[in-house]
Amino acid sequence: MSNIKIHDKEFVKTISHDEIVAEVKRVAANINRDYAGKRPLLLGVLNGSFMFAAELMRNLEIECEISFVKLSSYQGTNSTGVIKEVLGLSESITGRDVIVVEDIVDTGLTMQNMLETLGTREPASIEIASLFVKPARLQVPVNVKYSVFTIPDRFIVGYGLDYDGLGRNLPDIYDVVE
Ligand code: IMP
Repeated sequence: MSNIKIHDKEFVKTISHDEIVAEVKRVAANINRDYAGKRPLLLGVLNGSFMFAAELMRNLEIECEISFVKLSSYQGTNSTGVIKEVLGLSESITGRDVIVVEDIVDTGLTMQNMLETLGTREPASIEIASLFVKPARLQVPVNVKYSVFTIPDRFIVGYGLDYDGLGRNLPDIYDVVE
């Protein structure tokens, strides 16, 4: 299989599109079961989660809604050293069952920050659905209830994930070749 080049780095295909679709279906079945009779609000974190959010929602059979948020690049300080503002959340999440939809949990700081911020708005519940989790990189305890793939500490691109802006359009997942 031929490797691809993005900017200065070479990447090799490691997870096929078909495999992603099958695994997302598996996780969606768990959400269908856990949220039966409820109406969760999926909250996709832009930019990386757009493909995963679409595939996940396509497989949900329960009533559900979706909205997308972005995190500001502004960085102040809190206990973890990084705080980012959640932008674009126009609807109220008070009393809602929120599922944050993320592309990848790396250090976990982004999700910790997100849960802290959303938690102040009194949702009924908040869980995280992430396409990837790199457990070896976690710096803070973050409970990803709906994790699709657990991967080693390697940089990946494709299916919404980028390397310096490029690679999001790739239907498969590629690992960087060191
Ligand atoms: P965290 O706050 O360290 O968990 O960072 C999560 C964010 O870092 C993700 O939403 C991605 O935007 C980015 N990220 C972390 N690892 C990768 C990777 O392997 N490929 C592409 N983006 C990544």
